[in-house]
Amino acid sequence: MRARANVYLVGTGPGDPELLTLRALKVMQRADVVLYDHLVSAAVLELLPRRAELVYVGKVRASHTLRQEEINALLVRHARAGRCVVRLKGGDPFVFGRGGEEMEALAAHGIACEVVPGVTAALGAAACAGIPLTHRDHAQACVFVTGNLRDGSMDLDWRALARPRQTIVVYMGLTGLPRLCAGLVGHGLPPTTPAALVQQATLPAQRVVVGSLASLPALAARLAPQAPTLVIVGEVVRVREHLDRLIAEPVAATAALAAG
Ligand SMILES: C[S@@+](CC[C@H](N)C(=O)[O-])C[C@H]1O[C@@H](n2cnc3c(N)ncnc32)[C@H](O)[C@@H]1O
Repeated sequence: MRARANVYLVGTGPGDPELLTLRALKVMQRADVVLYDHLVSAAVLELLPRRAELVYVGKVRASHTLRQEEINALLVRHARAGRCVVRLKGGDPFVFGRGGEEMEALAAHGIACEVVPGVTAALGAAACAGIPLTHRDHAQACVFVTGNLRDGSMDLDWRALARPRQTIVVYMGLTGLPRLCAGLVGHGLPPTTPAALVQQATLPAQRVVVGSLASLPALAARLAPQAPTLVIVGEVVRVREHLDRLIAEPVAATAALAAG
């Protein structure tokens, strides 16, 4: 028989609280203590019970409130005290979310945890920007990559990325955007390949900037998008052009700032 969990690693989705799963909401309502990241939206935190103790452990680029080891230790300490511990993470805990590391740290202390999946930012951004990640006419594959590695470098498998009929979604890609676009062009993708940058997907400040591998870095530099942002590269971005006026509110309401 499986051990009963009193620690929950919960994905809260890209920001809009209506994108929480029912399971996430149920678990949140049971929480004694909640450890949450900077990507967990205020609207999601409002759904927590008043009695829950809230601990901010957020990590923003180059500014970590707590080191990962300290977060792991906190999870273990609260779980050992017999409290119902809810660890809230933006998006999904297992997509660039260090959910695996926290699960392993708990397991090393014999503590069971349940992982509650969330809508990862790529899915939220694609839906609200009206960009299908796969499409029979344009892309048969979709890859999620991070533009930000442990040591700050961008050591991507460029040849594997620069394939035709593939959509690339780049998490944490804004800082390295010029390098990313140049790398893809340098490895064979046409400079005219459509590319979009989605700012704060599913949140009130959502914004979509559309360009190409050649034009997106300059557009981004000019428009100074606010984090978090996600980059989508591939022919699927063109689909948005046909759909733009026909998509219902959440997508139509986004500001398309440029086409290039
Ligand atoms: C550390 S990763 C966490 C990803 C998260 N676990 C997920 O599944 O979406 C943080 C990055 O996710 C992306 N991201 C998260 N929420 C976003 C949002 N609402 N809009 C755009 N990008 C978002 C950004 O690229 C951000 O830098």
